[in-house]
Amino acid sequence: MRKTGENFRTIWQKPDDPEIIQIIDQRRLPHEYVVHDLNTWQDGAEAISEMLVRGAPLIGATASWSLYLAALQSRGHADRMAFINDAADALGKTRPTAVNLRWALDRVRRILPSADDKNLVPLLQKEARDICDEDVEISRGIGLHGLRLIEGIAAEKPGQPVNVLTHCNAGSLATINYGTATAPIYFAHAKGIDVHVWVDETRPRNQGSQLTAWELAENGVPHTLIVDNAGGHLMQHGLVDICITGTDRTTRTGDVANKIGTYLKALAANDNGIPFYVALPSTTIDWSISDGLREIPIEERNPDEVNMIYGRSEDGLCSVNTIASDTRISNFAFDVTPARYITGLITEYGICDASEQGLTSLFPDQAGHKK
Ligand code: MRU
Repeated sequence: MRKTGENFRTIWQKPDDPEIIQIIDQRRLPHEYVVHDLNTWQDGAEAISEMLVRGAPLIGATASWSLYLAALQSRGHADRMAFINDAADALGKTRPTAVNLRWALDRVRRILPSADDKNLVPLLQKEARDICDEDVEISRGIGLHGLRLIEGIAAEKPGQPVNVLTHCNAGSLATINYGTATAPIYFAHAKGIDVHVWVDETRPRNQGSQLTAWELAENGVPHTLIVDNAGGHLMQHGLVDICITGTDRTTRTGDVANKIGTYLKALAANDNGIPFYVALPSTTIDWSISDGLREIPIEERNPDEVNMIYGRSEDGLCSVNTIASDTRISNFAFDVTPARYITGLITEYGICDASEQGLTSLFPDQAGHKK
């Protein structure tokens, strides 16, 4: 069965019971494709913090569906708005770096004053549906704009593949469909362009080897898995034409927080004169901050993500410990790539420089936005 593609979604209402939200348990890919039910907003919060779902846009969408579940749970409560606001506060603390979480919660919160006892559930259901539908269109926009970059490279090397390097998973699985960094790749592949992807393994959670490689295979896109430290070597030997990554939060000046290791790829790309693009929906821009290094909170996750490795053994799926038990571990999940190392930002509205001027040329309404 083909699991991704045109009609794929990463989150949806259960067809025979719309009061249940369903997701893919991404922790179990690529070994098992397991659909997981969210029955309460607390299930949604756990799915985000435990990374059953992950990726900035999908985290935001899951939060919006969680507030729909909170609206259902609030039936019979004396103060339904307080119940939902408490749920939103708790959801907001599940993961600190991806700004789409705050964006989605704020968006739902803004409509609460217009809700009454009767229309609360339908209103929150509509908002969550809209957020998901819009995200698909946003990814489509990113794909169409980014496609131009790949077409340009293809035109310069006829008969040879365009080699794209990506880090982490900024694919369909990180969004509702198509992805951010992968959208231009999927569109290029669909157009018959010979595109090949170098997939960074992306330790410690292996979003590259376990998610990106899986979904590229699902869609028939040629790709090769590499260890995280290989990118610089490939770039030095002319084996990478363009890097495209996603982002979890981008400042109004174009600094980009993304999965740990992204910064090192940008440095290597810069040293080798290779274009380094970041693909992002406008929902990932944090207009209230300008200094990514100082102002973007970087999530530190459980050390077990570093010492434990999950995979398939001859006896089935298991986790194994890889280090001596007294080794101290640090596990920063993201890093910040300063705008000066980024060739351009690919958004649903077009491609711009990674700068305040570049971003406000695409989003003039945000010019002058300050905290
Ligand atoms: O920790 P995750 O898996 O939620 O992080 C996601 C990323 O960092 C991805 O690289 C992605 O580019 C950002 S979301 C499209």
